[in-house]
Amino acid sequence: MPSKRAASGPIGVFDSGIGGLSVLAALRRELPQEKFVYIGDAGHAPYGERDTSHVLKRSQLLADYLITRHQTKALVLACNTATAAAVADLRERYPGLPIVGIEPALKPAAALTASGVVAVMATRSTLASDKFETLLGTQKTSVRFLLQACDGLAAAIEQADHQAIASLCQRYAQALRHNPVDGAHIDTVVLGCTHYALITDILSKVWGPGVRLLEAGQPVARRTRQVLEEAGLLQAAQTLSQGEAPYSTLVCMSTGDPGLLNHALADWLAQETQRPASALSLP
Ligand code: DGL
Repeated sequence: MPSKRAASGPIGVFDSGIGGLSVLAALRRELPQEKFVYIGDAGHAPYGERDTSHVLKRSQLLADYLITRHQTKALVLACNTATAAAVADLRERYPGLPIVGIEPALKPAAALTASGVVAVMATRSTLASDKFETLLGTQKTSVRFLLQACDGLAAAIEQADHQAIASLCQRYAQALRHNPVDGAHIDTVVLGCTHYALITDILSKVWGPGVRLLEAGQPVARRTRQVLEEAGLLQAAQTLSQGEAPYSTLVCMSTGDPGLLNHALADWLAQETQRPASALSLP
């Protein structure tokens, strides 16, 4: 671990694939002066249906790589599944390094629901984790949380398989709606996987008007700003030399097919100039 971190260093961000781009987009809006290195671990995904030890090992490997090769001054785990499996371990492994994780937005959902019934769509692994159980245990007992493991959905989003995305969204929403809760209806849906935040247009149609979808990209971005400030590692406003584009400071890599990441980058960070994603081999 580097003993000294510089404010000019990049922030490392990773996910099992393209899902973390929903968080990266929020980070770039919140912290336009910062540099980012993003890794999509698509060659070893999906995380959500693998055992915890696999996700922990991958997270350690990605964090080690980001810190030693890119001298990242902070890490953002843009993946609920990786956060549940590895954030505690990484904080022990890198004491003093600002590390921000993401977790399903149960608390905001509990504050916002009027019907008192909240659906949570997440990966199987996130919902089965101790971290999630603890989070659930701290919520108001007046709110009922209905949990749905959405097997296959992150993989379908990763592959841009629109047919599979549509039918899985329908299937899981139907399963959640069929959960009888004393006649009360779901008015809030927590998107507990960063991939799902990429398909809010589809999910909004499936859930219909009057149902609020909640993801956590924005709160994670704000939290990142806060921890950087506290650590004295916030980058001063970027001074651009003549002709230099802003946002020239994003490096993206994929351990799977960089083409899929590039498509997603074009969709998600279209307004921002950046280099194409490259292949990364981290076996
Ligand atoms: N994007 C990840 C999350 O937020 C999981 C996707 C996967 O299963 O790989 O949980």
